Amino acid sequence: MTGLATSWLGRHYQHLAEVDSTNDYLKERADSLPHGAVVTADLQTKGRGRRGKSWVALPGQSLAMTALLHHWKLEEMGRLPLIAGLAVAEGLEQLCGISCQIKWSNDVLLGGQKLCGILCESRIARHQGFAVVGIGINLRQQQQELHDLGLVYAVSLFSVTGKYFGAEDVAAAVLNQLELLLEQYSAEGFGPILALYRRRCVTLGQTVRVLWEDREQLGTALDIGEDGSLLCNIDGKVRSVVAGEASVRGIYGYSGL
Ligand code: BTN
Repeated sequence: MTGLATSWLGRHYQHLAEVDSTNDYLKERADSLPHGAVVTADLQTKGRGRRGKSWVALPGQSLAMTALLHHWKLEEMGRLPLIAGLAVAEGLEQLCGISCQIKWSNDVLLGGQKLCGILCESRIARHQGFAVVGIGINLRQQQQELHDLGLVYAVSLFSVTGKYFGAEDVAAAVLNQLELLLEQYSAEGFGPILALYRRRCVTLGQTVRVLWEDREQLGTALDIGEDGSLLCNIDGKVRSVVAGEASVRGIYGYSGL
């Protein structure tokens, strides 16, 4: 991959013309693939998003990429989406000169609209296993094409900057940052990464709709916890909300996600 400056991430690399989902492809082959293996695809026929949603992109219009991390611990799983979101934001800043924000936990936004979605999954037993980090970045879509797909709150790098960025260049820029952040995480823990993340996180201070005690409730996002959870004020009490249990209101100019 041109532009890749990593020592282990993406050094085992496969590009596929078509696949069901790059996440599923790596999960099915994780046992035989090395730590840091990466797969990308021009087209996903069953691209998956979070909360059971699908991830749709026409062939060649977006980056669909998944990285495999062996030995990821279950108790660290809440941090991975934040690390990945930060890697995308920093990689795109370096490559494209744009400043992205992050909507907790890991939607990467440009001008308040969604540019990138991330789906982290794991298979972890007895504290040991693997995680996959699936990253989808809108590259070349026109605004109208996104609207036609029903993605009314999405943007692409092209639709905002007017420039085409190649999938391989974007993949390399993101992987370079992701390896740096993962190395920093191993050496120094989550604290320094959290500090960088907070600066980009647009969720803090916002009203959030939270699934709490099996009920949807409104809260205010106060901070991010050491485990990557969102600390919210719900009915005067500080609650720690994990990804999948909160959706942020107001960021896209509409109240539901
Ligand atoms: C979301 O915002 O809902 C997450 C979207 C994640 C999409 C990426 S594209 C590459 C990888 N393969 C998948 O099937 N999903 C992720």
